[in-house]
This record gives sequence, structure tokens and C-alpha cells, in this order.
Amino acid sequence: MRPSGVTPFLFLLLPLLIVFPSSVAYDSLDPNGNVTIKWDVMSWTPDGYVAVVTMFNFQQYRHIQAPGWTLGWTWAKKEVIWSMMGGQTTEQGDCSKFKGNVPHCCKKDPTVVDLLPGTPYNQQIANCCKGGVINSWVQDPANAASSFQVSVGAAGTSNKTVRLPKNFTLLAPGPGYTCGPAKIVRPTKFMTADKRRITQALMTWNVTCTYSQFLAQKTPSCCVSLSSFYNETIVNCPTCTCGCQDNATDTGGCVKAGSHYLASVVPDKTNNAPLVQCTSHMCPIRVHWHVKLNYKDYWRVKITINNFNYRMNYTQWNLVIQHPNFDNLTQIFSFNYKSLTPYAGLNDTAMLWGVKFYNDLLTQAGPLGNVQSELLFRKDKSTFTFDKGWAFPRRIYFNGDNCVMPPPDAYPWLPNSSPRQIAPLLALLCSAILVLAFI
Ligand SMILES: *[C@@H]1O[C@H](CO)[C@@H](O)[C@H](O)[C@H]1NC(C)=O
Ligand SMILES: *[C@@H]1O[C@H](CO)[C@@H](O)[C@H](O)[C@H]1NC(C)=O
Ligand SMILES: *[C@@H]1O[C@H](CO)[C@@H](O)[C@H](O)[C@H]1NC(C)=O
Ligand SMILES: *[C@@H]1O[C@H](CO)[C@@H](O)[C@H](O)[C@H]1NC(C)=O
Ligand SMILES: *[C@@H]1O[C@H](CO)[C@@H](O)[C@H](O)[C@H]1NC(C)=O
Ligand SMILES: *[C@@H]1O[C@H](CO)[C@@H](O)[C@H](O)[C@H]1NC(C)=O
Ligand SMILES: *[C@@H]1O[C@H](CO)[C@@H](O)[C@H](O)[C@H]1NC(C)=O
Ligand SMILES: *[C@@H]1O[C@H](CO)[C@@H](O)[C@H](O)[C@H]1NC(C)=O
Ligand SMILES: *[C@@H]1O[C@H](CO)[C@@H](O)[C@H](O)[C@H]1NC(C)=O
Repeated sequence: MRPSGVTPFLFLLLPLLIVFPSSVAYDSLDPNGNVTIKWDVMSWTPDGYVAVVTMFNFQQYRHIQAPGWTLGWTWAKKEVIWSMMGGQTTEQGDCSKFKGNVPHCCKKDPTVVDLLPGTPYNQQIANCCKGGVINSWVQDPANAASSFQVSVGAAGTSNKTVRLPKNFTLLAPGPGYTCGPAKIVRPTKFMTADKRRITQALMTWNVTCTYSQFLAQKTPSCCVSLSSFYNETIVNCPTCTCGCQDNATDTGGCVKAGSHYLASVVPDKTNNAPLVQCTSHMCPIRVHWHVKLNYKDYWRVKITINNFNYRMNYTQWNLVIQHPNFDNLTQIFSFNYKSLTPYAGLNDTAMLWGVKFYNDLLTQAGPLGNVQSELLFRKDKSTFTFDKGWAFPRRIYFNGDNCVMPPPDAYPWLPNSSPRQIAPLLALLCSAILVLAFI
């Protein structure tokens, strides 16, 4: 008898559905995304070497946002850092055994941060001093790298005696990245500015770090709301997506729109915790997808991003959206667009971001805290439908963070269409599990 047999399998299925997506160690929309840290030894010194360390953000859409990266490692021997340019360690450590010249850092496990913009020129090197902010590879390749220079003492002084640093850790800014071991690679070649001479590093090693949303363990920071021309219902973000309004405290953990309290909110460099406007979802960011118009051969969507965070101007924000009709996107207004094709042949994912000096800044909560765009899709007659929520996005990321969608059964329906039949789907899933169980 099927009904009695189905229930136990449902219980098997539920944990699978919940655990599986979040434990995936990499991002399926950017499977090769990584941060590569390259050490180029530029010269040997009497007791060590001078290296330029460069971090490349090879992620298509994930930025390293303010307050920026923090890089740590463990020295293999008794190395010290004599001096640095374009970066600094957060702690000097115990240098008491040094007389005369005192090193910049004597810790076994130094932690390095970028310098801030406006650092004196004599402490800068190329690609430094951006407060640790690195843009994503697709959106701004010219600003997708960050460098500092480190002069290492008590180290090897040839490529045979140098020991590679170990146990790299990257906070960018929070947890989420896992770094592999350093690997010696072919020395980097550098072209002089006039392109007439090529020099090379004396020795180069790479470290690759990858991001996992599971490790980051962030509470959601973004949600999606939906509406359409064919149904007056506006499906709001799920209640309490990013937090619940707390009536116990004076401000309720949030700020009512237009409140007097706002006058006292000043940008605070040391506190990046969002200060959000009171909403049912309490998310700093909401993305609204409105199915706006239906033409014979085309259909049109309006996208609005709202910033509910009084403490954050999102510079160079980006969206990643998955929808099957992106393979026939015909026109997009006032946003930049790039198709992301993580797997060959699957062209359903797009990255959207603002136009420089026009809407690439999503300003803090308030009347100006939104950006919007319209998309025009060409209908593919074989797949196009307004039925069963097909016209709504499958997945949306804001700045690389997954935005929580409303549950599918809440989507606006086409008039006269009955809710999706659940039974056949369930039966299908159960037989799939049965098959898996017997393999
Ligand atoms: C890191 O990303 C770059 C650029 O996409 C890619 O060429 C490289 O293979 C990646 N490295 C690893 C270890 O995945
Ligand atoms: C060290 O340098 C020598 C030449 O100076 C080169 O043949 C060798 O491959 C280098 N070894 C490493 C690990 O880079
Ligand atoms: C690696 O670094 C982390 C954090 O700094 C530390 O907890 C861990 O013990 C280190 N592991 C080794 C093998 O040094
Ligand atoms: C090392 O990193 C540099 C810069 O990201 C990259 O060009 C090079 O291909 C990497 N080498 C290896 C072997 O991954
Ligand atoms: C907070 O108070 C408002 C009205 O004052 C009420 O509508 C809401 O349900 C309360 N929320 C909680 C979680 O108690
Ligand atoms: C955001 O930008 C505006 C205009 O540049 C500025 O007045 C405001 O203080 C900024 N807010 C934050 C939180 O940085
Ligand atoms: C994906 O779509 C974009 C824009 O419609 C197009 O330029 C690109 O060639 C397509 N790529 C593939 C693999 O179909
Ligand atoms: C939509 O795009 C796909 C793949 O790029 C193409 O094969 C198909 O002909 C397009 N459909 C229309 C209606 O343009
Ligand atoms: C609009 O969609 C909602 C589900 O979100 C549904 O309850 C309602 O009946 C629909 N309205 C019409 C006119 O079909």
C-alpha cells in the first residue's frame, strides 16, 4: 500500500533536502571561483628575502567587502618580518631578543591586514592600501587584486633553503574561506612598463583559498519578494528571514522608517553590523521581481533592489540570477549584464551590476536606497509559460549571498490555475530515493 509506505521515506527525505544544499563545499554557480595568494620572492637579503604577496580574487561575483581581508599564516621555522610595505601585521609579538633593529613582527603566526586609502606614498606599493577591499573578477578586473611587500628575516636565502609558510587562513572579512597548502610554481614573469624587457621572480609559490557558504554560517542577509501583472497578490519576503522584530528593546533591534533616532546614526567604521529598517523580514537587502508585461513574442520583468540598512552604502553591488529564459535575454536597461556559464551548454544564469557613476552605488536605507532595472526576454514557445511560477527566478544572490525565496506554493498564481499537484511529485521523489537506496 503506497500511502503508508510513503511516510517513512518522507522523513528520510527531509533531512537530505535540508542538509545537502548547505553542506556543498563550493558554489555551483562559480565552481572554479577561488582566491589565489601568490608570493613572488623578488630579492634575497643577507638573512632572508623580500617577497611581494598578491591576492587575486578569481571569483566571478563575490567581493571582499569592507572591512576587508585578514591574512594569516604560520612560519615554518623562526622567521621574522623585518618590514612591510602596503600592509601591516595586527600584532608585533615578542621581539625582546632583538637588540638594535627591532622587527615589524616576531610572531610565529602573523596576521596581516591592508593599509587604508590615504597611506603616505612611501609606505605604498602597487595594488595596496584599499582597506582590504577587493572587487570581483567579472565586475572590476582592474581592482580584483591586492598586494603587500614583506621583508623576511631568519629565513632561507636561496630557493633550496626557503621553507614555505604553512597553515594559511583568510578572513574576507568573516569566515568562509579554506586555504590549501603553498605550492611552488613557475616563477612569475614581469614585463617592464615600456614592454621592452621581461624580468622574473627568483621563486614563486601559490596558495588557493575557496569559499563555502556552509563554513561562513551567515544568517541570511537578503530575501526575494515577487509580484506579477496577472495576480494582485504581492508575495513578500518570508517573515523573520533575517531576524525577527524584538519588542523587548526600545528600538526593537530595528529603526522605523523616518524615525528621529536616525539623526543620531552616523557612519561607524568600527561597527559593520547592519542597522535595519523595521520590516517583517528584517533583511538589509530585498530583491523584488515583478513580471510586468506580456507581449506576443516577448515578456518583461522589473527588478528592484532595496537597501534597508542604514549603516551601509553598497558600492559596486551585484546580483546573480538564475532563470531558464536568460538564454534569450533580449534587452536590459540601466544595469550591466554578463552571462555566467558555469557548465557548458547551460546558459540560465546572469550576473547583473550597476552602471558606473549612475547606479553602481546602492545607498543606505531611505528614499534613495534602491536601484532598478527592466529585462526583456524573448519567448521560447516550447518552454515559455506563466503557469506554476515559471516566470519567477530560481535563485538570486546579492553580492554572492544567497537570497531567501518565498516558498513555491506562495507564488502568485495565474487566474484559474489550480495549485500544483503534490502527490505525483512526491511519488517521483520517493521512487528516486528507493532507487538510490538499492544502488
Ligand atoms: C583559481 O581560479 C583561476 C581563475 O578562474 C583558475 O584558473 C584556477 O585554476 C583556479 N585554481 C584552482 C586551484 O581551482
Ligand atoms: C632553484 O634555482 C635553480 C637555478 O638557480 C633551479 O634550477 C631550480 O629549479 C630552482 N628550484 C626551485 C624549487 O625553484
Ligand atoms: C592553523 O591556524 C589556526 C588558526 O590560526 C590554528 O587554530 C591551528 O591550530 C593552526 N594549525 C596548525 C597545524 O598550525
Ligand atoms: C599561481 O598564481 C598565479 C596568479 O594567480 C597564476 O597566474 C598561476 O597560474 C598560478 N600557478 C599555478 C600553478 O596555479
Ligand atoms: C511587536 O509589536 C507589534 C505592535 O506593537 C505587534 O504587532 C507584533 O506582533 C509584536 N511582535 C512580537 C514578536 O511580539
Ligand atoms: C553613504 O553615502 C552618502 C553620500 O555619499 C553619505 O552621506 C553617507 O554618510 C554614507 N553612509 C554610510 C553609512 O557610509
Ligand atoms: C549565453 O547567452 C549570452 C547572451 O544571450 C550569449 O552571448 C552567449 O553566447 C550564450 N552562451 C552560450 C554558451 O550559449
Ligand atoms: C533561445 O536561445 C536558445 C539557445 O541560445 C536558442 O536555441 C533558441 O533558438 C532561442 N529561442 C528564441 C525564440 O530566440
Ligand atoms: C493569486 O495568487 C495567490 C497565491 O499567491 C492565490 O491565493 C490567489 O487566488 C491568486 N489570485 C487569483 C485571482 O488567481
